[in-house]
Amino acid sequence: MSELAIFGGEPVIAEEPRRYRSMGEAEARAVAEVMASDCLSGFYGSPGDEYWGGPKVQAFEAAWCERYGVAHAISVNSATSGLFAAVGAVGVSPGDEVIVPPWTMSATAMAPLVYGGIPIFADIEDETFGLDPEAVRAAITDKTRAIIAVNLFGHPARLEELLEIADKHDLHLIEDNAQAPLGATASGLAGTIGHIGVFSLNYHKHIHTGEGGVCVTDDDVLGKRLAMIRNHGENVTDWLGMDDLTNMVGFNYRMTEMSAAVGLVQLENIDAHVEPRERFAEILSEGARNLRGLKVPAVREGCRHNYYCWCATYDAGDAGVDRDLFRDALIAEGVPCFTGYVEPLYRLPTFQKRIAFGREGYPFTLGAPDYTKVHCPVTECMHRDQALLIEVCSLEPSEELAQRIGEAITKVHRNTGELSSRAGELAAAS
Ligand SMILES: Cc1ncc(COP(=O)(O)O)c(C=O)c1O
Repeated sequence: MSELAIFGGEPVIAEEPRRYRSMGEAEARAVAEVMASDCLSGFYGSPGDEYWGGPKVQAFEAAWCERYGVAHAISVNSATSGLFAAVGAVGVSPGDEVIVPPWTMSATAMAPLVYGGIPIFADIEDETFGLDPEAVRAAITDKTRAIIAVNLFGHPARLEELLEIADKHDLHLIEDNAQAPLGATASGLAGTIGHIGVFSLNYHKHIHTGEGGVCVTDDDVLGKRLAMIRNHGENVTDWLGMDDLTNMVGFNYRMTEMSAAVGLVQLENIDAHVEPRERFAEILSEGARNLRGLKVPAVREGCRHNYYCWCATYDAGDAGVDRDLFRDALIAEGVPCFTGYVEPLYRLPTFQKRIAFGREGYPFTLGAPDYTKVHCPVTECMHRDQALLIEVCSLEPSEELAQRIGEAITKVHRNTGELSSRAGELAAAS
């Protein structure tokens, strides 16, 4: 009888892991208070005090500024909106190139398109999966306008180096900090190092408001432009004394009073929401650290990793069995894991079929590259062969669960010989 659950043995984790629950009584009270006030939104899209939102939105933004030590926090209704606003705020115009990584949530790469910009994919580095500064340098042309770095899985990208590149070439660095709310490098909190940082408050994240996001910046002009893009900026250009009207066609990206009220409570408790996830992931890493063929997530010197996801780098040659079979065996042991993260974004039909819309280049500006020819080897290798992930943020971060996941990983690893020799049997059964 096999010890492995995939062949009928006892699984290490028999019951479904509990999901993280972040809403409590304080959030419920905060929502009830807004309901009782009858002010569910305080925004008006025209000149006046209400241009900046209602009391909860303004209090939430002030609290965010304080916690992150930034001059401006502009709440929005999602990080996607925040990224769109950020790209608009820095002035991306038709034909401008914006360097983005291909291994991220799709909104990062879609943002430039909103303004007729051209996403240019640069590869990631293989240590913590942020943009590789070398690849960014190689991608810069005289049309480059901005770089969007993603602090993927909760670990900051090489932000200082990327900022240096941006400054040298007179570009803006936007941080997509959706996944790393308290990530940090030696020089500060993730999200506050680039010219604009964008946070997500969707319900998958460490803290959330159901849907929501926040943009931060220390730059007064960028702060004003972000607020204008959020709220019908075309109506207030004279009132706010804006001379540069580039991209001043505003959207409605406004946050509701209820979301802001929930956000205030979540932000107040952010340490208590983030730290147990970090501890959970550290236990996972301790459990899997010395297994041949499995490299646990790196934490660069001086950095803080928030572990939105725990992403190990798997080497089938060293481990002795194909990654997806290893994953299937883990799932059979009750481990909530998956492989590959997302497909390299340039492979999405939106990019691959960009000419098939009937009009050359649509919805892309002329001058966009032929994305069928784009290859980012590190991204492709992580996606296809190496990334083995646990979505830490979605789980109740109990130390017991982390230890049992560690046991399950060790158990499957101990049995890769059997897994490999019986691979044909599994394939036939599926
Ligand atoms: C890296 C990254 N960027 C952007 C987003 C978009 O966030 P939102 O759902 O708040 O629009 C996400 C969401 O998962 C993300 O992970």
